Amino acid sequence: MEKIKIEKNTVQETLIIPLYGRKMCSEKFSALYTDIYAKKLCDRLDYDFSELEKKNNSFLYEFGTLEAAMRQLDIIWEIKEYLKIYPKATIVNLGCGLDETGKACDNGSCSIVNVDFPDVINVRNQLISNHEREKNVACDLKDYSWMNEVDGSNGVVFFAAGVFHYFKREEVKSLVLELSKRYEKGCLIFDSVGKLGLKLMMSKILKNMGIKDVEGLFYVNNTIKELNWSDKIKVTSKGYMLGYYNMKSFNIRSFHRLLARIGDNVMKMKINKLQLIFHIF
Ligand SMILES: C[S@@+](CC[C@H](N)C(=O)[O-])C[C@H]1O[C@@H](n2cnc3c(N)ncnc32)[C@H](O)[C@@H]1O
Repeated sequence: MEKIKIEKNTVQETLIIPLYGRKMCSEKFSALYTDIYAKKLCDRLDYDFSELEKKNNSFLYEFGTLEAAMRQLDIIWEIKEYLKIYPKATIVNLGCGLDETGKACDNGSCSIVNVDFPDVINVRNQLISNHEREKNVACDLKDYSWMNEVDGSNGVVFFAAGVFHYFKREEVKSLVLELSKRYEKGCLIFDSVGKLGLKLMMSKILKNMGIKDVEGLFYVNNTIKELNWSDKIKVTSKGYMLGYYNMKSFNIRSFHRLLARIGDNVMKMKINKLQLIFHIF
């Protein structure tokens, strides 16, 4: 089968990190997590995985795979809660890369929209087939025309996994306010890190992208205070690593859980839920 090329040092390449993380976590910590799609997708990519493979057995890299998995598990948990109230809602994967969280939450009646840059959607179209209630939209998230493709009339739950780190603070705020204008009773779920977390975890990626200073980028030290952008948006926030699951599972060492606590409490790794309540302007 023909392999699909992923270019190095592009924003597109950033989708490899969580995808490979989910594959490795499924192999190393299968009692905690399984992604049935990630391995097959990695096998179909023409990409040099050797740098990642070298790190595979390092303790820190193992922790990185847990990060990729916990984020997806947390987001799935939140989407499923939302679907209990709005079973016909649209699930919108913002900056979807090659992630299939939408399908993992499918209840048979929801719709799924996956949004990313045109080059990523082109790769996605070649690798992943959509079912009849699912579609892909090729658009920059900062160009709000993609919202015209999203029907929120039966409820809508947006999520962005590992995406807003590439945005400026004002860009995230403006996107959130636009969503709250358009989508009554919608909900947005996304991960964030504090300033220290962004500097430490993203340093290599930011350097490759020519970004020297994290000032102005989207980091959040105090989620409830700093995401309080409108009195019509209700903000709640939980620890990314341990806020939903205690990670007590076969193979996970107590040192992994200690790092998870440091991640949540010192790096301020969070999963945020913004409930968008109808806006009257
Ligand atoms: C770190 S990857 C995460 C991919 C996916 N959410 C996952 O968890 O596997 C970041 C993704 O966000 C996308 N992205 C970043 N900025 C974007 C923008 N302005 N518009 C659309 N997609 C964007 C990238 O193309 C990439 O696919």
